Amino acid sequence: MIGRLNHVAIAVKDLAASSALYRDTLGARVSQPLPQPEHGVTVVFVELPNTKIELLEPLGADSPVAKFLERNADGGIHHICYEVDDILAARDRLKATGARVLGSGEPRIGAHGKPVLFLHPKDFCGTLVELEQA
Ligand code: CO
Repeated sequence: MIGRLNHVAIAVKDLAASSALYRDTLGARVSQPLPQPEHGVTVVFVELPNTKIELLEPLGADSPVAKFLERNADGGIHHICYEVDDILAARDRLKATGARVLGSGEPRIGAHGKPVLFLHPKDFCGTLVELEQA
């Protein structure tokens, strides 16, 4: 059911320093910072040949990434995103197995303008999983 790895999201405290690390130390192509107030983050996209890394810095008081950074002072992997062909069919199949879909269960428009859902980390090996309509 799941397809390509769309991205790995890493929460960071200092987006400028993290961007420089990926650009200068790791030699990757990185985007300009993109504020996404509706998601409570500022994002830098790191373009790799086969996938993307998203560096997420908290934006605003109730950012979901801020809570994560309280528990993970050095930053860390926040979620991974898999593509699915049909997000509603994927959701219904997962719910039928007892997996928990976060929020209302209705897809929201994600960072790439496509519908996304998040799955409870306790149901997926301790990893927050994002599904994105391909
Ligand atoms: Co994501």
